[in-house]
Amino acid sequence: MAGQIKLAIKHISKTYQSERGEMLALHDINLGITENEFVTVIGPSGCGKSTLLNIIAGLEQATTGQIFCDGAAVEGTGSERGVVFQQYALFPWLTVRQNVAFGLKIRQDKSAAAMARVARYIDMVGLTDFAERYPK
Ligand SMILES: Nc1ncnc2c1ncn2[C@@H]1O[C@H](COP(=O)(O)OP(=O)(O)O)[C@@H](O)[C@H]1O
Ligand SMILES: [Mg+2]
Repeated sequence: MAGQIKLAIKHISKTYQSERGEMLALHDINLGITENEFVTVIGPSGCGKSTLLNIIAGLEQATTGQIFCDGAAVEGTGSERGVVFQQYALFPWLTVRQNVAFGLKIRQDKSAAAMARVARYIDMVGLTDFAERYPK
């Protein structure tokens, strides 16, 4: 539905504890993102971009505040929120096909339809002939 908030970021703050004391990385961040909205977070190195993305992904915990996805409070990682990291992250011990199929494997989906889906995406990027090869 247009205009409905898909991802709500509410009063997010993050304080890191280090040897040099407390470090405030994020202070009261508020943002609502609707479905199909494309948002870019920009700012100088160290301003808290990665911290915010990690909190949205559920990889890190906010000190205060909450994230809501479709109205449900985010607690940890979940398959409704995906992250593409700056450094590409392939499992070197898995083949191209196994890498692509990883998400489905977590969901225990080994159906023929799932395998066809894996093949379709491998084909889409022209890697069908290399499906049984390893990333290196
Ligand atoms: N695990 C951590 N422990 C202590 N300080 C951290 C940690 N992670 C990030 N920081 C600090 O928090 C601030 C924000 O970092 P970060 O979110 O990585 O910024 P950005 O991605 O915008 O470069 C920086 O000052 C960084 O040094
Ligand atoms: Mg960063």
